[in-house]
Amino acid sequence: MTAFPSPMRLLRSALVLLFPLFVAALRAAPAPSVDERVRDLLSRMTLEEKVGQLVQYSSREDMTGPASESSVTPQLEKGEVGSMLNVIGAAETRRWQKIAVEHSRLHIPLLFGLDVIHGYRTLFPIPLASASSWDMARIEQAEHVAAIEAAAAGIHWTFAPMVDIARDPRWGRIAESAGEDTFLGSAVARARVRGFQGDGSFGGTDRVLACAKHFAAYGAAQAGRDYFTTDVTERQLREVYLPPFRAAKEAGVATFMAAFNDLDGTPCSSNPFLLDRVLRGEWGFKGFVVSDWGSIEELRAHGNVADIRDAALKAFNAGLDMDMENGAFGPHVAEFVRAGKISQARLDQAVGAILAAKFRLGLFDDPYRFCDEARQEALLLNPQHLELARDLARRSCVLLKNKLDVLPLKASGLKVALVGPLADAPLDQVGTWHAKVDKKDTVTVRAALAQLYGADLHYARGCETQGDDRSGFAAARAAAAASDIVIAALGEDVFQSGESTSRTSLDFSGQQIALLEELHRAGKPIVLLVMAGRPLLLEKIEPLVDAILVPWHPGTMGGPAIADVLTGAHNPAGKLPVSWPRSVGQVPLFYAHKNSGRPEPLKPKDPYFSRYIDSPSTPQYPFGFGLSYTTFVYDRIRVSAPTLRDGGTLTVTAWVRNAGKRAGEEIVQFYVRDRVGSVTRPVRELKGFQKIELAAGEAREVSFQLAPADLAFWRADMSFGWEPGDFDVFIGPDATSTLTASFKLEEASAVAAN
Ligand code: NOJ
Repeated sequence: MTAFPSPMRLLRSALVLLFPLFVAALRAAPAPSVDERVRDLLSRMTLEEKVGQLVQYSSREDMTGPASESSVTPQLEKGEVGSMLNVIGAAETRRWQKIAVEHSRLHIPLLFGLDVIHGYRTLFPIPLASASSWDMARIEQAEHVAAIEAAAAGIHWTFAPMVDIARDPRWGRIAESAGEDTFLGSAVARARVRGFQGDGSFGGTDRVLACAKHFAAYGAAQAGRDYFTTDVTERQLREVYLPPFRAAKEAGVATFMAAFNDLDGTPCSSNPFLLDRVLRGEWGFKGFVVSDWGSIEELRAHGNVADIRDAALKAFNAGLDMDMENGAFGPHVAEFVRAGKISQARLDQAVGAILAAKFRLGLFDDPYRFCDEARQEALLLNPQHLELARDLARRSCVLLKNKLDVLPLKASGLKVALVGPLADAPLDQVGTWHAKVDKKDTVTVRAALAQLYGADLHYARGCETQGDDRSGFAAARAAAAASDIVIAALGEDVFQSGESTSRTSLDFSGQQIALLEELHRAGKPIVLLVMAGRPLLLEKIEPLVDAILVPWHPGTMGGPAIADVLTGAHNPAGKLPVSWPRSVGQVPLFYAHKNSGRPEPLKPKDPYFSRYIDSPSTPQYPFGFGLSYTTFVYDRIRVSAPTLRDGGTLTVTAWVRNAGKRAGEEIVQFYVRDRVGSVTRPVRELKGFQKIELAAGEAREVSFQLAPADLAFWRADMSFGWEPGDFDVFIGPDATSTLTASFKLEEASAVAAN
């Protein structure tokens, strides 16, 4: 009889034979790509589950009555919520994630989003302030720190950077912007996206998804009134407002947020021109677009749709992918898909982009990888983060006036009066959008100066930022009388800046001007600190003070940073990212304006030119302006050739010399003017900047490269390209520099649209 091997032996032999093949197969088959995983998941999802991914709720009480945990739980369990905002902290996010992942059929993790606008627990200076540093490396580092802290607290996605160009300080959200300029704004957009997202591979737990907002032209709200209509030409849109968004896209930004406003008659949340044609068509954006809070629902108030069903259809088909607190997509998208009014392809594109973001973050491999209490404990307010916050805050300070070198102050042995509502205001100092702020963390100006001057510091609040109360004036007067110098910390409180805080007056509010006048009567030198989220008018009060330093709302470490600058431990180098108006009547005010047909009188005393009869047209302080404790002298500007040709580059150089007695940093700026165009061109445009450090007496040649593509614009026929002709270049310390040279650009040709 032949003895047959037992089944177990047969199985073992088979396994031994097959194992190498199995290993080889494993080696050969690469891990599925994100696209493959998305396709696979989509193929297993029901229509309702897909629509669920398009829905985002807030965990906090709000006017629109958003979800409490109990009301949203049934939807979470069914897998019909894609994202939550305002769920904060490692433990909280873990709790919500658990419901979504453990109960839902396909275990799809939630995406947690939050407004981490200038830091999470360590608050950096507001974005308008950090833009004043013109320091892209440090802005990037600060956003990396913000990402590290937010990610340690369970957050996957920040609704930042806001890259809206802001030319109107009546608009409270100028505080969240990088100011008025497209070139600077684009550089800041890139730096901030890189800071949040790194290279976009999301391999670790120190990066979060970024969101370029508010798409688009939200900053151009008529009359500076928040949420109000925007009506700019397509040329202005493409030339001024869109480039920072394009820069964010090129830096790999994962998401966009549609703006609240209507633009040329179409609300941005249902705007196929913006969302479909420009963003996806022209720019090739592959991520997803979230609505702003309630902005789909608001299509009704805009008068663009009759009801919320209609709003859902219009917004979704225009290219909006995620519904932030509208109650529009959840109840209505499925019905439109069934009726064939929304295509399956469009649905899969939107859902696929949201799922892809979750895959890229590694949430399908470990939905809790960002919720780690130990990491949260170790990383929030880490001393290195605080040091960076202090460094960025002092680099964000702009010195506007320093009569007779009243600054820097002696760091000890001086009697100092510190007065004003911003001097010891832990929350106001941090400014708008303060994520996980804890007032205890803030080091105020008072606390920092007390460290230096001890009993010689005489503090008096003087007045509040708002209201009529002058009862604190007497104490302020006494403090001034007892001191050698007065520091007046005036500005805006946290409720006067940010979203929905448009103002018709840009004066220091309440009794602050009266307080300054009172202090002036004491006869001591006065240093004014402007601690605000926007430029406030200085024309009338400038003569009352000896020095003006603008730290804006400087964040957690604002106090020590300001002390560093006041005492000269740090030599200020910040430059204004906005033109500082003399009056509200001048706004919107920006340096890159057109020349007009009547820029100046044709003959002496001719009144018929572009001007005001009651004020100069120029700003109080120009874009790019900022003093140092040393002085820089510019000369010897030179272009490398008289002609720039298609395909070539030109080098423009100038010498900068530190003519003072101490080392300092200077932000050297490079502007161009296109003298004649098929459409009128701005009087000058920033095309480059460099931060240089010079020892006392040192001089350096600074150079900028220019290629024809840098001179491209939207021409009369709306093609994008340059035109031959004469150009002026300027190198200098601000937008009014007169150090100039010129060159000729030859041969026109089209370049890829910008
Ligand atoms: C409304 C704001 O416009 C937007 O910037 C913010 O991200 C959302 N609310 C969420 O808080």
